[in-house]
Amino acid sequence: MIIQNTQDKEFSNLNSISIGNVKINSKVVSAPMAGITDYVLRKLIRKYSKDCLLTTEMISSEALVQREDCHIVKTDEEEIPVSFQISGHKPPLVAKSAKILADKATIIDINMGCPVNKVMKATDGCALMKSPDVAASLIRAVKEVVDLPVTCKFRLGINQNCINFVDFAVKMQEAGAAAICVHARTRVQMYSGVADWKRVSALRGKIDIPYFINGDIVSVETAEQAMNDSLADGLAVGRGLLGNPWLPAQIDDYLKFGKKPDEKSIEEKLSVLKEHLDAEIAFRGELNGIKFFRKFYPYYIKGLRGASEFRGRLVTEENYDKIISILQEIKNA
Ligand SMILES: Cc1cc2nc3c(=O)[nH]c(=O)nc-3n(C[C@H](O)[C@H](O)[C@H](O)COP(=O)(O)O)c2cc1C
Repeated sequence: MIIQNTQDKEFSNLNSISIGNVKINSKVVSAPMAGITDYVLRKLIRKYSKDCLLTTEMISSEALVQREDCHIVKTDEEEIPVSFQISGHKPPLVAKSAKILADKATIIDINMGCPVNKVMKATDGCALMKSPDVAASLIRAVKEVVDLPVTCKFRLGINQNCINFVDFAVKMQEAGAAAICVHARTRVQMYSGVADWKRVSALRGKIDIPYFINGDIVSVETAEQAMNDSLADGLAVGRGLLGNPWLPAQIDDYLKFGKKPDEKSIEEKLSVLKEHLDAEIAFRGELNGIKFFRKFYPYYIKGLRGASEFRGRLVTEENYDKIISILQEIKNA
């Protein structure tokens, strides 16, 4: 049974969430993933889900102000609603980036959760959880220059001895954040261990803005459990999207109508794989597209007969026609 924790609240009803003045007709967000949720994958997710909130890969403010027209910022009308995620720690640069992105974005999100060493060293990403004042100044700086809701995504804290997400969330709300998303792991956990959805329920009653739960949501069942455990207003799906671009739509249908998803056939999975591959090739050029796509094969063919052997061949193949004939072999296996 789905618990509707916040249906009495103005910003959240059965089917939608208001983030600032933007109404999203879904409780599902596709989480930002660098090198994964590019323009191509977002469009594929949108094909299945008309309503979910899409999020871009993180866009470095340092890089964006040097070069405004890079492929990472490509979007179009069909993507709306789409949140553009910026990384950085310097208020003027993050604000300038938000200004550059303002005419494309529905929402501006600030990355406060990236655990990668390079990003932490630059005092971006999750390092901002150690400097809540700097983090708050980023929210304020963006709000000053763009008339869009500003949100941020962060973790439980840096490690088990420094779990500060509740105080941090309150501070971001005070700075003007319109919503937050919590990845229910610490920085030290990176992407391993189990996301602690229950812990995030401590936010209920502490903040008035909507909050999204993130981490280990890979199915309608885990979506329901994460919502119930965390008492969140919505949820963000990350790695569960890999080889599964229909997942946000399935979760949305389940939360809205109680509809359980049908199992996708091998033919459907392979057909979407090819659609995704072809779109990456159209976006990046043939060789770059083929090489970029290698990370996705294992997810699309997981569980199919002979997957491991086919995976080995697909991830080294550079010739498009040969890739297509391997896909045919998988279909016939
Ligand atoms: C390859 C990869 C890239 C990611 N890039 C970003 C990013 O750019 N910005 C961000 O906030 N989180 C990023 N994340 C974190 C995800 O958004 C999400 O918080 C995390 O994967 C946990 O959710 P999941 O268990 O559903 O995957 C990334 C995760 C992965 C695996």
